[in-house]
Amino acid sequence: MDAILDQIKLFAASASDTGRHKLISALHDMAYSLETPDETLHRYGSMNLQAAVVKIGLDLKLFRILAEAENGVAASIKELSAKTGAEALLLGRLLRYLAAIGAVKQVSGNQFAASHVTKNLTERVAEAGVNHYFSTVTPQYSAFPGFLKKNGYRNPTDEVHTVFQDAWNTELHGFDWFTQHPENLAYFNDFMASRREPELSWLTVYPVAEQVSSADCGPERAVYVNVGGGIGHQCAEFKQKFPEMPGRVILQDMPHSIANALPTAGVENIVHDFFQPQPIKGAKFYFLRGVFHNHPPHKVLQLLAHTKAAMAADSVILIDEMIPPEMGAHVDALSMDLTMMTAFAGMERSESQWREILVEAGLQLIKTYVYNPASHESVMEVRLPAQ
Ligand SMILES: C[S@@+](CC[C@H](N)C(=O)[O-])C[C@H]1O[C@@H](n2cnc3c(N)ncnc32)[C@H](O)[C@@H]1O
Repeated sequence: MDAILDQIKLFAASASDTGRHKLISALHDMAYSLETPDETLHRYGSMNLQAAVVKIGLDLKLFRILAEAENGVAASIKELSAKTGAEALLLGRLLRYLAAIGAVKQVSGNQFAASHVTKNLTERVAEAGVNHYFSTVTPQYSAFPGFLKKNGYRNPTDEVHTVFQDAWNTELHGFDWFTQHPENLAYFNDFMASRREPELSWLTVYPVAEQVSSADCGPERAVYVNVGGGIGHQCAEFKQKFPEMPGRVILQDMPHSIANALPTAGVENIVHDFFQPQPIKGAKFYFLRGVFHNHPPHKVLQLLAHTKAAMAADSVILIDEMIPPEMGAHVDALSMDLTMMTAFAGMERSESQWREILVEAGLQLIKTYVYNPASHESVMEVRLPAQ
């Protein structure tokens, strides 16, 4: 068996990101095919427990402590108890479970060290993501079956009557609820900001400079409006990549995001509700990343209509979303699809679903640029139809 595993590791070391995902999926399939019914039930039954114990590990800074040990030296439960302040008996139970799910490595009866996953869990994106999921999203998953039973198994399309409202016992839309829950909002913003690596962004594939000529973009015109742009990380990236490009760079979002927005030189941070008419007319690029997936079709059409009404003949809407294929989509994209359903009656859309919506909006999809094939992240260039 060791020889087979060595061969797999060798293959993984030289695989592309897409190849690596295929390998992970094949290995999971193989492991599932070996399970007894009892093992299957425990795997599904304890998924929430796995998330809970990882969250406890983050709260205790356990993963950082293990990962920072010099040369991967193992630490005893007693040492870890002294560093985290958690009682040794409790910590030992948590650590043994974390080792059983691969989140740490058990070296002896009472000694633990960092595993590959431990190190992953010290990355900012992992910390932010687990905190966001555990604090805000997990209760939605628990309320999901009951909600669908109650609604007769219909695809939700009403953004204020979806699982979120049941889970949090509120009548508010998810984004309005955030304004009253600053800790959840902070985790969410942190996750949004760190979720995608700058080296894997629309800026790596879209020909920005070729599209902007000095003739049609002077200093008065907005060159880049980031609609629903969070606290402004993509505006900062745009400014950093094109410091000399003429034209205004504008971040738009809700008051709570703009209050926390980055003070990037040359970026205007403006409060704007994108379900109201777009006040910045005739911009070159209206850019929206991960915005439409938060909304059901009728709201997507409303936002597109406001943007369309503001466009000049050469304006471009750039829609940056995961665009999963009908078959063989990455599990993370499919999980995001259902998470958007539970939170906002939103969804991830395939390219044919996008084409349908854009036709209905009276817009034209010119080209889709895929910048992260493994996760289907892409940016669509959308324009007014040719006259
Ligand atoms: C999923 S986040 C994406 C943030 C950012 N585009 C990114 O990719 O990191 C959606 C954003 O839309 C904003 N948003 C939601 N409803 C809005 C509204 N009605 N008007 C303006 N912004 C809104 C949220 O505050 C949030 O920052």
